[in-house]
Amino acid sequence: MINNIQKYIEEVIAFTANTKDDVEQFRIKFASKKGIITQLFADFKLVPNEQKKEFGQKMNELKNLVQEKIDSLLNNLENKSESTSNVDYTLPGDSINLGSRHPLSIVRNEIVSIFNRLGFTISEGPEIEDDWHVFSALNFPEEHPARDMQDTFFIEKHPDILLRTHTSSVQVRVMENQKPPIRTISPGRVFRNEAISARSHCIFHQIEGLYIDENVSFADLKQTLLYFAKELFGEHTKIRLRPSFFPFTEPSAEMDITCSLCGGKGCNVCKHSGWLEILGCGMVDPNVLESCGIDSKKYTGFAFGMGIERITMLKYGIRDIRLFFENDLRFLKQFKSCV
Ligand code: DAH
Repeated sequence: MINNIQKYIEEVIAFTANTKDDVEQFRIKFASKKGIITQLFADFKLVPNEQKKEFGQKMNELKNLVQEKIDSLLNNLENKSESTSNVDYTLPGDSINLGSRHPLSIVRNEIVSIFNRLGFTISEGPEIEDDWHVFSALNFPEEHPARDMQDTFFIEKHPDILLRTHTSSVQVRVMENQKPPIRTISPGRVFRNEAISARSHCIFHQIEGLYIDENVSFADLKQTLLYFAKELFGEHTKIRLRPSFFPFTEPSAEMDITCSLCGGKGCNVCKHSGWLEILGCGMVDPNVLESCGIDSKKYTGFAFGMGIERITMLKYGIRDIRLFFENDLRFLKQFKSCV
């Protein structure tokens, strides 16, 4: 009889199950009311007294073993079904959300790459500047309104330390540190003490361009800007230059392009004129060249400056400049495919 129990013990140890049904069969065989263990307990009284102790121990061993086996088999099958059968490998995976570039970065990169193709390098300068680089070296008269507290965020007075109001300050730094020929653009953030509205902001971005060499003419400026406009707004874009004034250029002009939305026919955006103003430009004033240590008898140059927000608004039909700074995902996500 004891040998029988030993065989059962070995059978239990060796038993494996692939399904819950297998485990149930095993349970019925050993642990049900009519199972082997009940049977063995019933047979206990037939066991000779001197064997009762050993028999009893073996029976308990078998009983515990069977219960442990059932528990561990069920447990394994449970885990297995969680890790395998519940997963449908044919389902499409979750898409990875890559995010998108900010529209201002997209347009800045595009402008930078257009000028790179023309051989312009990139220069950067500090956002916190002094009066010299933002105003004085650029031929701003002492009483010029742009120096006024109304426009400029001053950090310190005497000597004046301020947040740059335009990226033209970078052209001063470049001219002070490099010898012509110079061909560079400077993208960056600028600051003006202005009320925030749909059309203006106190922080925005500009790109400044500067080209200095011997015999640089207004025709070079015009041709460069025409190429730029066609590259950015499309082959059919036309430009026009209207006389204007900037202290640092002479002559100065403002450049318009044919309205990219109506193609020049006239619409709300171009106020029915067919034209959109996109940048300021001109021939670098000899005073500026001399202030920066460049011989104005030998060298001439042109410069231009544009607001990235304005160009982005025109390119994508965005009506409110504040959208660029609110980081509303519903707005930003619309530029996913533009990169
Ligand atoms: N700095 C001017 C502004 O902030 C833009 C500008 C106009 C830059 C004409 C230039 C230029 O280099 O030649 O409004």
